[in-house]
Amino acid sequence: MPEPQADDKHPPTHIAIIMDGNGRWAASRNRPRTQGHLEGLTTAKKIVKAVSDRGVQYLTLYVFSTENWKRSASEVGFIMGLVKQHLKRELDFYRENYIRTRHAGDSAGLPPDVAQDLRDVCEETKQFDGLQVILALNYGGRDEITRAVQRLARTNAAITEQSIRDHLDNPDVPDPDLVIRTGGDLRSSNFLVWQSAYSEFYFSDKLWPDWTEADLDLAIAAYQQRDRRFGGVKQPSGRS
Ligand code: IPE
Ligand code: IPE
Ligand code: MG
Repeated sequence: MPEPQADDKHPPTHIAIIMDGNGRWAASRNRPRTQGHLEGLTTAKKIVKAVSDRGVQYLTLYVFSTENWKRSASEVGFIMGLVKQHLKRELDFYRENYIRTRHAGDSAGLPPDVAQDLRDVCEETKQFDGLQVILALNYGGRDEITRAVQRLARTNAAITEQSIRDHLDNPDVPDPDLVIRTGGDLRSSNFLVWQSAYSEFYFSDKLWPDWTEADLDLAIAAYQQRDRRFGGVKQPSGRS
């Protein structure tokens, strides 16, 4: 059977990506893991542009998890350095494409200079009405929910599903329609735990540095074939 084609007119509103496989990509070439992260950044830029060109409104990228601090100090330092460099250098790219940058995660746990650069880029791009790119950095789904409930408890407001949602990091961002994980593993690794309750999942065996626009289109096309019922029952067509 031929692969389904993506329908350009109805892209998902929000795509979220677990960009996994950088280390294995480097290891398979006998290169240090850091090379994989460098290559992964190039892929991320390419995919941000592709997602923007396809009219998607929100893209959440899993950049660094609350568990990734377990890695060696040199790998963590390298990733933080890359993030900082990217934020400084890519402002023009965001401007040209009217891309708004946002953050999900605990900024208090980031190196202060990285947290500051992140705040600056978010501030400088907040007027743009194109794609919104949410960088999940020092992000953990359980941590986000915990911080939300802590903030909520301080208000003395009633604890409801809506009030917890209202205290998440980006309460106005709609839940992801499609969560993609590259790199072959079939798990969510603490990504968007609250928001992905009814997301469609797509797993790709390709390592993130090998990902291309064509892979994105395959993921979108697969998503467009899914039957989202949200717990309800789909009525046969013609009946209401
Ligand atoms: C994803 O790639 C990037 C981060 C988690 C920061 P990995 O570094 O996890 O690559 P693998 O999974 O070890 O190949
Ligand atoms: C998830 O990948 C985190 C990011 C892509 C930033 P990991 O490589 O950290 O996840 P596990 O360890 O395989 O679950
Ligand atoms: Mg990994």
